[in-house]
Amino acid sequence: MTALKNDRFLRALLKQPVDVTPVWMMRQAGRYLPEYRATRAKAGDFMSLCMNPTLACEVTLQPLDRYPQLDAAILFSDILTVPDAMGQGLYFESGEGPRFRKVVSSLADVEALPVPDPEQDLGYVMEAVRTIRRELNGRVPLIGFSGSPWTLATYMVEGGSSKDFRKSKAMLYDNPQAMHLLLDKLAQAVTSYLNGQIRAGAQAVQIFDSWGGSLSSAAYLEFSLAYMRKIVDGLIREHEGRRVPVILFTKGGGLWLEAMAESGAEALGLDWTCDIGSARARVGDRVALQGNMDPSVLYANPAAIRTEVARILARYGEGTGHVFNLGHGITPEVDPAHAGAFFEAVHELSAQYHR
Ligand code: CP3
Repeated sequence: MTALKNDRFLRALLKQPVDVTPVWMMRQAGRYLPEYRATRAKAGDFMSLCMNPTLACEVTLQPLDRYPQLDAAILFSDILTVPDAMGQGLYFESGEGPRFRKVVSSLADVEALPVPDPEQDLGYVMEAVRTIRRELNGRVPLIGFSGSPWTLATYMVEGGSSKDFRKSKAMLYDNPQAMHLLLDKLAQAVTSYLNGQIRAGAQAVQIFDSWGGSLSSAAYLEFSLAYMRKIVDGLIREHEGRRVPVILFTKGGGLWLEAMAESGAEALGLDWTCDIGSARARVGDRVALQGNMDPSVLYANPAAIRTEVARILARYGEGTGHVFNLGHGITPEVDPAHAGAFFEAVHELSAQYHR
């Protein structure tokens, strides 16, 4: 395997010294980039893009070619490939978001779900990881990812996106046995899926718990964090002679950082609602932090973006253990030049904290 030319992302996750704060951005390959829209049009639709390893590799590399400051690549795929491989029949209605042909509504439905084999049932993702690693040729590390069991369960039970999680929360309280079995199967599926990505070449992995923040504190610990912990326990932690760091990102999870810091993950992703300085004081030396600029700041002009980057860097303070990111994904309406101003500001303004 080619040696990594830029490993500051992995070093910061492991709290090793860095020259500047590393930066990447959730949804960095996406609709705000005209080159992404062109490749997506060539693929036909979003799922065909995910299922074509050559095109998935092409869009993964697009932001890196445009922005030389990026310190990591993230696999281009989607969290909903796992429920699709469990037979749920994923499709995207244009402008409508994800939908499933089958929904999970009873214990019998859950019992009938298979746990997919990554190489057999998600081979297109494994092939995309191998292709991207080859094409990256050591430029920056590659991040693999999955949804959390709770987040995936909400899509499977609702049949798509939801504002109130009516069916999934009803199942959680009415039929906790069915919900626990579903989460347990998803934890097994995600563990082998992420291990497949690591074997194929992912050098760090992130678990997206986009909807953990919708839960009560008690339900978060029992139905979301417990299963992410199980996944972390089952992951390959060393590969190609290096530690494979794990990042847990619960959107809206600011209340539970102490519990998340005990999960065995190397780093926690923060959304923009918490102050990163307070978060650092709360988690201490146990984990690194990733985040946490409000994605809406990118609608503002470059000077305002720079001011906000400076504020977050100052709040984190001196030393390593910070990976700069947005608190959630970039939105399609952002001007690509504003994303560039964001990455430049992170590297330029952070050197003073690493002397
Ligand atoms: O970050 C990256 O660049 C990697 C690619 C990535 C995508 N989805 C591509 C995508 C990642 C990491 C995801 C994760 C994902 N997918 C999450 C967790 C993160 C989060 O945003 O909270 C969730 C909840 C999903 C499910 C999903 N996929 C939804 C709800 C939608 C539709 C909403 C939307 O933004 O249109 C998608 C589609 C999707 N996944 C797009 C992209 C670039 C847009 C599809 C398109 O090109 O039309």
